[in-house]
Amino acid sequence: MTSRTSLASWQKLTAHAQEMKKAHMSELFSENSKRFNDFSLNLPPFLLDYSKNLINQQTMELLFDLAKECEIEAWREKMFSGARINKTEDRAVLHTALRNRSLTPIMLDSKNITDDIQQALNQMKEFSEKVRQGRWKGYSGKRITDVVNIGVGGSNLGPQMVTEALKQYSDNSVNVHYVSNVDGTQIANVLRPLNPEKVLFIVSSKTFTTTETMTNANTAMKWLVASSFDSSAIAKHFVAVSANKKNAINFGIAKENIFDMWDWVGGRFSLWSAIGLPIAIDLGFERFIELLEGAHELDNHFKDAPLEQNAPVILALLSIWNCTFLGAQSQAILPYDQSLHMLSAYLQQAEMESNGKSVTWDGEEISYPTVPSIWGELGINGQHAFYQYLHQSNNIVPADFIGSVESVTPVQGHHETLMANFFAQTQALMQGVNEEQVRADLAAKGRTKDYIDKVAPHKVHKGNRPTNTILLNQISPRSLGSLIALYEHKIFVQGIVLQVCSFDQWGVELGKGLANKIQKELTKNTINTEHDSSTLGLITFYQTKIK
Ligand code: F6P
Repeated sequence: MTSRTSLASWQKLTAHAQEMKKAHMSELFSENSKRFNDFSLNLPPFLLDYSKNLINQQTMELLFDLAKECEIEAWREKMFSGARINKTEDRAVLHTALRNRSLTPIMLDSKNITDDIQQALNQMKEFSEKVRQGRWKGYSGKRITDVVNIGVGGSNLGPQMVTEALKQYSDNSVNVHYVSNVDGTQIANVLRPLNPEKVLFIVSSKTFTTTETMTNANTAMKWLVASSFDSSAIAKHFVAVSANKKNAINFGIAKENIFDMWDWVGGRFSLWSAIGLPIAIDLGFERFIELLEGAHELDNHFKDAPLEQNAPVILALLSIWNCTFLGAQSQAILPYDQSLHMLSAYLQQAEMESNGKSVTWDGEEISYPTVPSIWGELGINGQHAFYQYLHQSNNIVPADFIGSVESVTPVQGHHETLMANFFAQTQALMQGVNEEQVRADLAAKGRTKDYIDKVAPHKVHKGNRPTNTILLNQISPRSLGSLIALYEHKIFVQGIVLQVCSFDQWGVELGKGLANKIQKELTKNTINTEHDSSTLGLITFYQTKIK
């Protein structure tokens, strides 16, 4: 396979990066008063301002050339039409089909999967309404008041992030809880205040083999049976979402209580499937459909907009520019909307599990940096914790700032303070303040020369730190759907340009396998002396200390 590094655009970008490293964004803004117009997109779901990146017209032209040389449009078509682009698992990648609200037929292996999806949605609708309206009863005839979703990774992060983000849209007819950690503290804390007669468990696991989820589901079953004294209660209190019906049935879940998933939906892209059941129960099925509609709107934008005006393409190319060409190694996700407090955790899995890889589709070593590590926190909290690093450390961390024009919970005087910070931070990161300005400022405040000499270097902010700003009108099921789909497609484009298989996750297997072996040692209180000395020492210490 031809390496991306041999592409003409790649080589030009490499040379161009050396030139651009000498530039400063504040100068680029001074030179071009139209910079915001040139480098922003106003789409119905959001405004994307990417002018505060170390780019000029030539940079963007070269990046679009790169996208063309990598045949992004053809790859996009392959994904939407169900080609088996998940090469190492020989699967199609069709999470977009789950939100295909135009209901156009999508053929996979001579079958129109749009029909299957509609059927699954109907099942979700019927079930979620039954639970919400109190028509689904527990073993003692009482209505369900609490739903506990048991799942981890993609079977947890998506639904939990969305229910947290859309809290204001919930009528609280049912309380939704999440258990993902196999640390018993979490499930114990969740179950303690609940009444087993009124709890419904959703065991969400695509594979239905994930140890953490199975352990939590077993504990939940024991808790229920201990209260009901009857295993027939399970049918009234347990449903599953899985592509592995056989395992779910063997586990004890009634066949009619299993919601289907398909192998063409990756776990981290699965919130649009029945994995989103807790969302539908929490918010109502109509809201869930609005979420799908928002994502579909963005899918259409991604499919139809020219590359030069295509938000996911632009975000992907900028990430590649910042990381692969300019050398940034991490990226911060900084939501200023409280609703999005789980977004960075969600995107961590989405981007890092998808593209954190170092061989190409053909298994050849990749010689360039792929994706950055993703991290972040609510922006305001971050300002009082780690923004010092963003402003003055000698590592450049490109950041996405995400905010809303209107708050979903207006409280007088709050939103202006929030948004003033939102705007100020990207300005400060871009402009910085040089020593001359710092000295002039201190002198104007009447500081002595000695003081100025001592303090001035510490107050210099070099600026030139890249940010994207995504401004939604307001968090809603629809706008959130669009925002998530924006990042999903960004990740797809990154994967194609960087030549990594975005839809497998072999890197999680090694640790899982070793954990299974070590668990046997811990259970039997034996030890395999062939462990390396560190692991051996740790396990021995643990086993001698444990009571
Ligand atoms: O271990 C990683 C992973 O396989 C993720 O890709 C997935 O989202 C998560 O575990 C949960 O998997 P499952 O839904 O099969 O339990």
